[in-house]
Amino acid sequence: DGDVFKYYVDGAWTPTTSGKSVGIINPSTLKSLFKISACTQDEVNKCVDSCKAAQKLWAKVPLWKRAEHLHKLAAIMKDQKITIADCLVKEVAKCMKDAMVEVVRSGDLIDYTAEEGIRILSEGKFLTSDPFPGNERNKYCLASKIPLGVVLAIPPFNYPVNLAVSKIGPALIAGNSVLLKPPTQGAVATLHMVHCIHMAGFPNGLVNAITGKGSEIGDYTTTHPGINCISFTGGDTGIAISKKAGMIPLQMELGGKDTCLVLEDADLELAATHIVKGGYSYSGQRCTAVKVVCVMESVADELVKKINEKIKKLTVGMPEKDCDITPVISETSANFIQGLVEDAKEKGAKLHQEWKREGNLIWPVLIDKVLPDMRIAWEEPFGPVLPIIRIKSVEEGIHHCNANNFALQGCVFTKNIDKAIMISDAMESGTIQINAAPARGPDHFPFQGLRDSGIGSQGIINSINMMCKTKSTVINLP
Ligand code: G3P
Repeated sequence: DGDVFKYYVDGAWTPTTSGKSVGIINPSTLKSLFKISACTQDEVNKCVDSCKAAQKLWAKVPLWKRAEHLHKLAAIMKDQKITIADCLVKEVAKCMKDAMVEVVRSGDLIDYTAEEGIRILSEGKFLTSDPFPGNERNKYCLASKIPLGVVLAIPPFNYPVNLAVSKIGPALIAGNSVLLKPPTQGAVATLHMVHCIHMAGFPNGLVNAITGKGSEIGDYTTTHPGINCISFTGGDTGIAISKKAGMIPLQMELGGKDTCLVLEDADLELAATHIVKGGYSYSGQRCTAVKVVCVMESVADELVKKINEKIKKLTVGMPEKDCDITPVISETSANFIQGLVEDAKEKGAKLHQEWKREGNLIWPVLIDKVLPDMRIAWEEPFGPVLPIIRIKSVEEGIHHCNANNFALQGCVFTKNIDKAIMISDAMESGTIQINAAPARGPDHFPFQGLRDSGIGSQGIINSINMMCKTKSTVINLP
């Protein structure tokens, strides 16, 4: 069927035997946009077998050649940036400017991964036996890094291309093969990226891409005995995957409720700029978005005034027009966001802007005087709505941050660096930014969540290290 995007196995775009498809809706128009293959469990088996066979050969390809392939992929992706970005605009309603940034950033990430991989993977260890009590110097240990095997990569809708390559790049440079399961919204952009892999001339089967319904192939794939590692970014599904997964390394990034702490001595102009950028860019649909502001009561009015002035300047509309605020990913998501706002309003919060929604397009809202009994104080809206909690002490803000199950990032605004570092230590989240909004990048920095925000640490360096195992050879001298 020419209308349905095929899945990719063994170097070939292949139609599914199910005869079924999954529809992708354009979040901006709510109209049907593309159809992707609803693959079967047999097709998952086919992909895994193909990955397994390709990996055995890839592991023997010299490191410099693996790196060369990745550099070629990066160049092709940058070349194809308009096509890929155009898909992101239509499929996930990301504005054109940000969509282009996502593709270029992905190319840079792949280049950096190739370079970093050369350094990390060329280093092994040589140990002698005699430091350990009771031993002579008669054993030499040579330890080096070997690949895990088949890595299952599952990126989310908000950065389908970037969070696919942040898993694929490290996996490949380390000698693994990859089974990619793109998110439904964003699948076509991701499949275009897979076609770049195809054009870069990687061996057939090294990267296979399966699409379909979670209910049919989700559990089957994540619990497949042929999978040796799962790297997942997304929501609660990650908790379910972790509970069912076998004895394999997991890398999980599962969202956040990043707290922004604003102290009395903060540069309020700077804080407001970062809060608006951090809270509302891509309509708040980033795991690292500012998701709750805890501000000291004495400076709250001034901060709120500055934030409101900046919100007024945000453009609201369609992604093709490069608006700041674009439609959220789905009707379900828009309804959920609306529910959180209504709950806060009913319980006495103050909305600084009038609630306005057309389809999936939600106008930005700042929700002031939020109290702990309101859902929005704790839940992640993934939309352009930001709660403000007025606090009487810094401890109150730290407590709010630490009481949440999510613990991805957080930030603190103050001019007192000693205080900032002490607060960073006290905030129990994966990363704390001092005087800037949370962010994952630069992409070689470690990126991790505590508690329900994830397992393991990402970032280029950590991902490469996570996707290999240590193998030792011990030389026993007579
Ligand atoms: O939401 C996914 C997370 O990786 C965000 O990345 O670059 O927007 O901080 P970034």
